[in-house]
Amino acid sequence: MKTVATVAALRAAISGYRAAGETVGFVPTMGALHAGHLTLVRAAKRECTRAVASIFVNPKQFGPNEDLARYPRDLEGDSKKLQEAGCDLLFAPTPDEMYPEGFSTTIHVAGVSEGMEGARRPGHFDGVATVVARLFALVGPDLAVFGAKDAQQAAVVKRLVTDIGFPLRLLVHDTVREPDGLALSSRNQYLTPEERAVAPGLFRALLAGHLVHELGEKDAATILRAVRKGLEAVPAFRVDALDLVDAESMQPVTTIDRPVLLAVAAFLGKTRLIDNIRFGPARRA
Ligand code: PAJ
Repeated sequence: MKTVATVAALRAAISGYRAAGETVGFVPTMGALHAGHLTLVRAAKRECTRAVASIFVNPKQFGPNEDLARYPRDLEGDSKKLQEAGCDLLFAPTPDEMYPEGFSTTIHVAGVSEGMEGARRPGHFDGVATVVARLFALVGPDLAVFGAKDAQQAAVVKRLVTDIGFPLRLLVHDTVREPDGLALSSRNQYLTPEERAVAPGLFRALLAGHLVHELGEKDAATILRAVRKGLEAVPAFRVDALDLVDAESMQPVTTIDRPVLLAVAAFLGKTRLIDNIRFGPARRA
């Protein structure tokens, strides 16, 4: 695997692939890679002849009270993992390379970025959309792979790709989970053994909501009550947010008459975990 830190070196490597008629699958990340990220890289490599990943802890998507400085960084360990997953090229720029002096553009994807996590983390999705648009422009991939774990982010990127007209296919990969159901996350390492033991209760509560729907319930409030009950079964959870929204627009629904997203954010001790599932009938044409 080749690693580049500058835009010029990235462009040169991509031009080489293009000259050889190769196709490029791209996975943007912030590093601290786990098996979930690597599954996305393998998916990119299955679909394209070259897999490109980026590692950039994007300051623009962190709020003033968020953990930018504490975000785990391990370029050497990440490189080894990417290499093993079949990644061909890693772009790991510095903040100055990504945002040279004078950089003044912000991309705001209205609507879909404004509820849920967007409302709780002002500016977060502007930061995501801005860095993702710049990365897409620099890499010019045929395929970009994102995880369903960050469902609102995936919806924002989908809107961005459609609105700007980036000539690429977006693949949103299913959330990769531990055998007990806990969604893989770099934050799981912060859980104490006791917290780790009860953490799968988050996914279980979402499944309870899904099951209530499968048994015929279409009322959103009733489903949300079932999820809350499931969450209360784990007293250690402090629920930060629970949303049942249209899977595309991210706007709240009252009746399950289309694809919906059931999303939860909860603290276990100091660690904030998020998870979500999708269900509901297909959208009518
Ligand atoms: P990061 O949190 O590093 O995640 C990179 C990608 O991995 C995202 O698309 C995320 O949804 C996906 N991912 C994380 N955990 C996953 C899991 N358990 N299963 C499947 N996919 C998973 O998301 C970001 O970085 C940044 O916001 C970024 C898009 C790179 C922009 O800075």
